[in-house]
Amino acid sequence: MRKAVAIFLASAAALEMTAAVRTSAEIDSCVNSLLSQMTLEEKIGQLSQYSYYKADEGTLAQVRNGLVGSYLNIFNPEECNRLQREAVENSRMKIPLVFARDVIHGFRTIFPIPLGQAASWNEDIVRGGAAVAADEASSTGIRWTFSPMVDIARDARWGRCAEGFGEDPLLTSRLGAAMVEGYQGEDLTNPNTMAACVKHFAGYGAVEGGRDYNTTWLPEPLLRDIYFPSYKAGIDAGAATVMCSFNDINGVPPSGNEWLMNDILRKEWGYDGMVVSDWGSINELVPHGFAEDRKDAAVLASIAGVDMDMEGHCYDNHLLEAVKEGKVDEKRIDELAGNVLRLKYRLGLFDNPYVDMSRANRFYAPESLELARRAVEESAILLKNEGAVLPVDMSKVKKIAVVGPMADAQHDQNGTWVFDLEKSHSVTPLTSLKEVAGDKIIFSPGLAYSRDKKRAGFADALKAARKSDIVFYFAGEEAVLSGEAHCRTDLTLPGAQSELLAELKKAGKPIVMIVQAGRPLVLGKDAELADAVLYLFHGGTMTGPGVVNLLTGAVNPSGHLPMTFPVTSGQTPIYYNQKNTGRPAQSITWIDDIELEAGQTSTGCQSFYLDAGVAPAYPFGYGLSYTTFKISEPRLSATEMPVDGQITVSCDVTNTGDREGKDVIQLYIRDLVGSMTRPVRELKDYAKVSLAPGETKTLTFTLPASSLSFTGRDMKPIVEPGDFQLWISEDAQSGTPVSFKVVNK
Ligand code: BGC
Repeated sequence: MRKAVAIFLASAAALEMTAAVRTSAEIDSCVNSLLSQMTLEEKIGQLSQYSYYKADEGTLAQVRNGLVGSYLNIFNPEECNRLQREAVENSRMKIPLVFARDVIHGFRTIFPIPLGQAASWNEDIVRGGAAVAADEASSTGIRWTFSPMVDIARDARWGRCAEGFGEDPLLTSRLGAAMVEGYQGEDLTNPNTMAACVKHFAGYGAVEGGRDYNTTWLPEPLLRDIYFPSYKAGIDAGAATVMCSFNDINGVPPSGNEWLMNDILRKEWGYDGMVVSDWGSINELVPHGFAEDRKDAAVLASIAGVDMDMEGHCYDNHLLEAVKEGKVDEKRIDELAGNVLRLKYRLGLFDNPYVDMSRANRFYAPESLELARRAVEESAILLKNEGAVLPVDMSKVKKIAVVGPMADAQHDQNGTWVFDLEKSHSVTPLTSLKEVAGDKIIFSPGLAYSRDKKRAGFADALKAARKSDIVFYFAGEEAVLSGEAHCRTDLTLPGAQSELLAELKKAGKPIVMIVQAGRPLVLGKDAELADAVLYLFHGGTMTGPGVVNLLTGAVNPSGHLPMTFPVTSGQTPIYYNQKNTGRPAQSITWIDDIELEAGQTSTGCQSFYLDAGVAPAYPFGYGLSYTTFKISEPRLSATEMPVDGQITVSCDVTNTGDREGKDVIQLYIRDLVGSMTRPVRELKDYAKVSLAPGETKTLTFTLPASSLSFTGRDMKPIVEPGDFQLWISEDAQSGTPVSFKVVNK
């Protein structure tokens, strides 16, 4: 059993458990019995979710009259219980409410943003973090979170890449499933669990130009092979709810998309949970130009299969009329309301509707904080370490200059989606450094915040650098520069941070740049100027202690990139599992090397940018360590695999350095010829392995032929016989391939 989850399940067992465990059939029969007694108005009430403001008479009457199924944005246990009492004791049908909130990477104890957690490649970290979030949030009455976001993000301009697990379908699937398991625990009726919500279905990460809410065009094979698997994995892990996305996809917004919600989700995947709209996404069918008006939107969404209208006021205002006019069948309303009621049974709310005040507002347990610190440590990626400047032996340095706008950013180190943050609990790197190095620290931020362009503090920062043996430069993005509706076209460090770094360089001291950001940034010249670069994403509450452990070598960095880092902003979207093209770049002609009046074809006519080449700054999967690893050539159990068979692939991994460390060993394949062109590499498995100095471990991966399947021209999965390459490597670019064949039986 995963340790972190075990801690919280154990505490749940100690709670008074009154929820009956019902089989699906029993739940269905309870749901049907309720539906048979409910009025149409009450059924529509169940389909309505409102943002909570206050428990005034209007709100209480709404509950009493059975006109609401759920509130979001309520997080006060007394108020939850007050509303719940109104629902359970004073409404006709006595149906409990379910309270929801965006608890995305922690409630009060904030974990690294999901993109940071993804860099850990460690399902236990993600699962444990979600269990902590569920434990804390449920102690305020929240039993439903709008997480995990499992949208694939290939474009760092999109601010919401912060919320997901990066660009790869397999990594996102595994971590998304782990997050679902962490929130929901082993039994969703336990009061310290939350229903998960796999979002945003579907293809939201592919918004054109990385601009939020924008259109997506995704051919079905791309949807099926790249974008769908992570939603499916979350659902297979038991996610109780799914949220539709804002974008229109191939011309049809998901909130009115029968193909997505009915044909794929319900029929093909057999999903029997609940579907919630995104905030107002049903009424957005109107500005999308897909519905005439809000009534039309309500009709389209209900027919498509959206069970709950989040703060859109389309169902509550128009569905009754639409049913009466025969535009929507009442049977459809029964199905939607049935899905909402089923969720409430699954959560045990009919038996156990109230927050137990003896465990209300439980935050910051020492073991939660420890797990959050470990998450920071495992999420940090060492991008560069020239001259082994890291780790720093604190006993050997006399003075350390701590510079940069992110050194002491109690709010901003937490990143996006932290509605419930109490920033006084965030431990910053400056605080933690002072704890270990006291008077040795000279703090001179140079810039007040990440976008700051004023150079007034530069001279003092340079003075601090001159007086010190080493500079820790804390750069990055404020929290507000990533997340929903916070997209950027310029992915370089904002404000005058690059100028400040250039200024610090004048001191001639080693510079360690620590980056806290909500997305992959373009570091270019900055990374050249720094001797070492430790990339964190936004780390949350325990950023400080985690960073200090990494800088001092108490912990060895083991994060690997969940997204490709571009060389320039214009290189986006960029991702490792791209196609080869008919003209892959063999050599690059750089813009400054082109002769005057050179001929049109003189630059080679290949697939690259004159000013950015084709290779990324750092590939997907990349990450260094304070030690070194050697991976043996992969050993295949057979070089031929039947189309319905499998092979095993083994390799030896040795820690060739003198420090304990963890490496992420990645197995990639390439299908050399296909009836549809195939990506140059596809991740098929990975393992995070911990090794003592000199130690060797043998890893064995099972590679079933089914994992090599792709969506054929008939939109059906197919495994094609033919030649394949296989790599076992530490990132998506390195390693030497071995060959194998898939053969007909
Ligand atoms: C976001 C969702 C979120 C919802 C509720 C929307 O704007 O797209 O991800 O869960 O708001 O806050």
